[in-house]
Amino acid sequence: MSLLVVEGLRVGYGKVEVLHGIDLTVAPGEIVALLGSNGAGKTTTLRALSGLEPVRGGKVVLGGESLNGVKAHRITALGLAHVPERRRLFSPLTVEENLRLGGYLIRDQAAELKRRMETMYALFPRLAERRLQLAGTLSGGEQQMVAIARALVLQPRLLVLDEPSMGLAPLIVRSIFGIVKRLRDEGMAVLLVEQNARQTLRIADRAYVLESGSILIHGAAADLALDPRVQAAYLGGAAAA
Ligand SMILES: Nc1ncnc2c1ncn2[C@@H]1O[C@H](COP(=O)(O)OP(=O)(O)OP(=O)(O)O)[C@@H](O)[C@H]1O
Ligand SMILES: [Mg+2]
Repeated sequence: MSLLVVEGLRVGYGKVEVLHGIDLTVAPGEIVALLGSNGAGKTTTLRALSGLEPVRGGKVVLGGESLNGVKAHRITALGLAHVPERRRLFSPLTVEENLRLGGYLIRDQAAELKRRMETMYALFPRLAERRLQLAGTLSGGEQQMVAIARALVLQPRLLVLDEPSMGLAPLIVRSIFGIVKRLRDEGMAVLLVEQNARQTLRIADRAYVLESGSILIHGAAADLALDPRVQAAYLGGAAAA
């Protein structure tokens, strides 16, 4: 059963419609990739799911509950965690303070919050060594780890990631994708927006290709990696072996 069901989603800015009726689903224990070139509408899709852009048409349902018109903080409380493009950390605050802010919904449960933060340090040992370092002084990879850890403190049902690999070295990307796989294997639902199609299709279970605000192709990630249209547009024309 799908955790997230999106049907006919329409979103726009001003007079311009950017998403022209998107259908997609994500189930617990699967990584679903949303691929597409610059300006296709990937970030807009994620922002609409999180309540950061108004839904103009269609429906968004999480765990049987409609998210249409629901405020962003309430959607977070319902179990959707969004790691935005470019990370958006609180740079003048420490790693520890960033994680604490991520757990704001349980801030009055000190012991539980502390326990969850320790879980995050176990998942990201590099952050444990740097808990008192200011987020703005971390490397790009470490900042991405903080952004993901901050989203995980509330133990979401659906993790939505907007280009986590952006600007990172291949080794760090592998490490972050490794964490994403581990979360999936533990039963989390993951919606992953990426431009790095080759690596993404290797870790994803299913994928959708968005072009100019419409889903062009969708299917099993392994099949998409062999699709000539995907190879030509997103894999540099080469086989994705
Ligand atoms: N706040 C905004 N106001 C007006 N237009 C916007 C706004 N945000 C995005 N757009 C437009 O909506 C379209 C889709 O943008 P979006 O950021 O969703 O694309 P994307 O697929 O995430 O691209 P990228 O890969 O570059 O991040 C683009 O044409 C963009 O210019
Ligand atoms: Mg984007």
